[in-house]
Amino acid sequence: MKRYILNLILFFSFFLVYSQQNDIDKRVNELLQKMTLEEKIGQLNQYTGDNSATGPITINLNKQNEIKNGQLGSMLNVLGVKYTRQYQELAMQSRLKIPLLFGQDVVHGYKTTFPIPLAEAASWDLNAIELSARISAIEASASGIHWTFAPMVDISRDPRWGRVMEGAGEDTYLGSKIAFARVKGFQGKKLGEVDAVMACVKHFAAYGAAVGGRDYNSVDMSHRMLWETYLPPFKSALDAGAATFMNSFNDLNGIPATGNSYLQRNILKEKWNFNGFVVSDWGSIGEMVAHGYSKDTKEAALQAITAGSDMDMESNSYRNNLADLVKENKVSIELVDDAVRRILYKKFELGLFDDPYKFSNPKRQKAALNNPEHTKIAREIAAKSIVLLKNENNILPLSKELKTIAFIGPMVKPKRMNHGFWAIDLKDVDSTYIVSQWEGLEKKIGKNTKLLYAKGCNIEGNDKSGFQEAITIANQSDVVILSIGEAWNMSGEAKSKSNIQLPGVQEDLIKELQKTGKPIVILINAGRPLIFNWTADNMPTIVYTWWLGSEAGNAIADILFGDYNPSGKLPMTFPRDEGQIPIYYNHFNTGRPSVNEDKVYKSAYIDLPNSPKFPFGFGLSYTTFLYSNLNLSTHKINSLETIEVSLNVTNSGKYAGEEVVQLYLRDKVGSVVRPIKELKDFMKIHLEVGETKIIKFTIDKSKLSFYNDKLDYISEPGEFELMIGASSEDIRLRSNFELVE
Ligand code: NOJ
Repeated sequence: MKRYILNLILFFSFFLVYSQQNDIDKRVNELLQKMTLEEKIGQLNQYTGDNSATGPITINLNKQNEIKNGQLGSMLNVLGVKYTRQYQELAMQSRLKIPLLFGQDVVHGYKTTFPIPLAEAASWDLNAIELSARISAIEASASGIHWTFAPMVDISRDPRWGRVMEGAGEDTYLGSKIAFARVKGFQGKKLGEVDAVMACVKHFAAYGAAVGGRDYNSVDMSHRMLWETYLPPFKSALDAGAATFMNSFNDLNGIPATGNSYLQRNILKEKWNFNGFVVSDWGSIGEMVAHGYSKDTKEAALQAITAGSDMDMESNSYRNNLADLVKENKVSIELVDDAVRRILYKKFELGLFDDPYKFSNPKRQKAALNNPEHTKIAREIAAKSIVLLKNENNILPLSKELKTIAFIGPMVKPKRMNHGFWAIDLKDVDSTYIVSQWEGLEKKIGKNTKLLYAKGCNIEGNDKSGFQEAITIANQSDVVILSIGEAWNMSGEAKSKSNIQLPGVQEDLIKELQKTGKPIVILINAGRPLIFNWTADNMPTIVYTWWLGSEAGNAIADILFGDYNPSGKLPMTFPRDEGQIPIYYNHFNTGRPSVNEDKVYKSAYIDLPNSPKFPFGFGLSYTTFLYSNLNLSTHKINSLETIEVSLNVTNSGKYAGEEVVQLYLRDKVGSVVRPIKELKDFMKIHLEVGETKIIKFTIDKSKLSFYNDKLDYISEPGEFELMIGASSEDIRLRSNFELVE
């Protein structure tokens, strides 16, 4: 009976989805028949607004007329219900009243700013990550936004690339899980709900592998590497239902991604059956001229639409050339119709034809942007994102009874710094809700604690004139907290760096303060893995706080005083030196591995160890965890069988806390060489003091498969090594098993 009812429910839900799709298809086709070529091309066109909510409409008259003439499909950078409504009203004056789509880079929050995505990835907490995307969507959709240009799912092994701050780091497995969670969060229950925004998975594809870590640079990689390392997070985002994709600025093996049929048609739209639409990156259609792939923007438009780029963000190449290309029979009307159909479908799905002002309710906006629950969650997620790198003398957590604390550094007071590169500047919103580190600490300490401040130095430059004041207050204190790092605009788009050491004289300031003999806690705020070898070697207590968003100050205070026990783990390898980059944990062994101490002719540097400063997956806690009792249900399986892995983790320290238990596999021999280890599962668990939990993982064929040299996704019989660890290097338990025919 139960099963019967379940089947009935399943049948009806399929039927509902199917008939809704059918209904939308019908409406799209009817509309398409009424559209002129110019109106169709209009739908493929996206313009920017003035990037602020300070309206009224400042966009030039020509653009306003284009909207009224039905020659624009979408806008970005128009914020708030008032201004999105003004533009929508113009669209409603057009002949067919096709509503505009409003897109925005809601990358780490709309008003409530969450940790930058790389920091959030360090939480390894998929529920938290989904929740932050959910809240971002609630706030953005209440402010007139239909569509976020996120998640950015580019894998990157190069911290010189400034955009690592926007992604989930270097690992394909972790990145894929996070991509899925973020799409779910943005799109909520389903598109069409008033609190759901369309996700836009970007940048398709391989943008994170830009040569030299230089933004927008070329990418040259084997297809095997592309499929195995760079594409899975995109597929995972698609499996989560991602409505749209954005292509990328780079060329891939000589063909710009924007004009790349292999990526957009063969893989995305054909093999993966993606039925949403692809938007170009900003101006990237026109930029194919500079790439030397198109002789002019007309040829670029031809190449882009042929390759599957549906919407032109800001290059005007479609607007200026598509009509001629159709008239000259170079672009078929079917090709244009396909792109238009995809965009219209989403507008119907969002419910914009039924109510173009659906996302323009001022009351809802006010409520969504002033929800204390959002603030509370942002604080929790920020705390979860912090990584404790060193705590040698257990200086942390600090006592709330300390008499005097010196809080020093250029990151202590400013609010913008921790907000991160993609934080949205809501000009009509009072910024007092953003909690600086100073404010966070002030609220945390008891009445009897004195908090002293000195800036010490700037983030950049050689000026040491503030050192003395810092030394003076350090000498008057029981403990020094020194907050240093990168300014908010040192990592992000077009923020590639050849030197990723701590900028300016910040490390010199640490050296001077060390001479005071006071206990020092170092907070490093940054958008990428930085290099700080002297600090790492000489300072006992280091906390990597990334850029944590509007609740940074509170979250940092929670960590410093033990109200939250750090649980973050690095989602990217921290190098010792720029010369090691690209550096990543899941590399191949080579024929001459560097671990051979006795060999001269090995794959190593003669002036540097191969090992990183801090490895992927690393992060400490105020407590300690013991791993024991590894058990595999069997040590031999065929490809249809599974292995149940179990182990115990015990909290053996003095604080309750969370641990990320990581499972790595190594395929010992393959028809193509395999990495020395690959993350294949993980679990974040909470343990009370003394508590033991049994952790279970399942190994099946999907965890043993890879792309062979013919690009078939296969598993091969043979031996596997299983490693369970607290980081990619801190392996606590090992075993072996065999896959047989
Ligand atoms: C360029 C960036 O590459 C992309 O990620 C972003 O969504 C667009 N600009 C729009 O701001």
